[in-house]
Amino acid sequence: MPIALITGANRGIGYALAHELGRRGITILIGARDEQRGAAAADALHAEGIAAEPIHLDMERPQTFAAAAHTIAERYGVLDMLINNAGIMIESESWNVNTAATIPMDVLHRTFQVNFFGPVELVQVLLPLLERSGDARIVNISTILSSLELHATPGSNTYETKTFGYNSSKTALNAFTVHLAHALRSRGIRVIGIHPGWVKTELGGKGALIEADAAARMIADTIVAPDPPTGVVLFRGKPLPW
Ligand SMILES: NC(=O)c1ccc[n+]([C@@H]2O[C@H](COP(=O)([O-])OP(=O)(O)OC[C@H]3O[C@@H](n4cnc5c(N)ncnc54)[C@H](OP(=O)(O)O)[C@@H]3O)[C@@H](O)[C@H]2O)c1
Repeated sequence: MPIALITGANRGIGYALAHELGRRGITILIGARDEQRGAAAADALHAEGIAAEPIHLDMERPQTFAAAAHTIAERYGVLDMLINNAGIMIESESWNVNTAATIPMDVLHRTFQVNFFGPVELVQVLLPLLERSGDARIVNISTILSSLELHATPGSNTYETKTFGYNSSKTALNAFTVHLAHALRSRGIRVIGIHPGWVKTELGGKGALIEADAAARMIADTIVAPDPPTGVVLFRGKPLPW
C-alpha cells in the first residue's frame, strides 16, 4: 500500500485530501503541529476504515522534521508521496488589502517559514525515503495568487488580491517546484504544484466557492495519475500562468 505524508492534515484541504487518498487505498500520515489535533484527525479517519496515523510536524520548528523521518523510516522504510499542504495567510483579515508597503517583517518571515522554507527543508530531510519509492511524488499546494502574470495584468481575477507575503511565498514555492523537478528528473521523483481552487476553509474565508472535498478529489485525480507531469503548477489539470 502506498504511503503519503500530508502536512497540515488535521483540518481544511489537508484533512479532506487525507480522507480522499485514504479512501483510494493509500496509507495516510497526518502531519500536524498539534499532536492532539493530529491524533483526533487520525481517529476520525480510522472510524471510516482508512489507514492513518499522526506524525508531529511543525513547519515553524524544523527540528520536528528529523524525528518524523525517523518514525517513517522505522515503521514503513519508504515514502511514496509528500504533500506540502500546511500554509498560512496571517498578514491581513481581508484579501483586499495590499500589504506590500506595510507588512511587518516578522509576519513576512513567518509566512515564508511555513509556506516556503519549511517545505524546502522537509523535502531535503525526507528525500532518502522518497528515493526508495521508485515512483514518488512531491506535491506543493500552491495558489492562483502566486501567479506574477495575473498580478501584473489589470483586470485579471486576482489583480486586486495583493496579500504580498502570502502571494510571494507561494511564488517562491512555485520556483521550488520547477527547480526541484529538474534536480530530481532522473531519480524517479515527480514534483507537482497544484492550485486547489477557492476553497471553503478557515484560510479560504467567507465567499470561497468550493467545498474541501471537491478540491481534494481534483488534487487526488492529478497526483495519483499513472504518468503526471513534473515541474508544473496545475489547476484542474491545466497549467496556471506563471
Ligand atoms: N482555502 C483556499 O481557498 C486555498 C486556495 C489556494 C491555496 N490554498 C492552500 O491550501 C493549503 C491548505 O489551506 P487550507 O485552506 O486548508 O487552510 P486551513 O484550513 O487554514 O488549514 C491550514 C492547515 O495548516 C496547518 N498549519 C498552519 N501552520 C502550521 C505549521 N506551522 N506547521 C504545521 N501545520 C501548520 C494548520 O494546522 P492547525 O490546525 O494547527 O492550525 C491546518 O492544518 C495551504 O497551503 C493554502 O495556502 C488554499
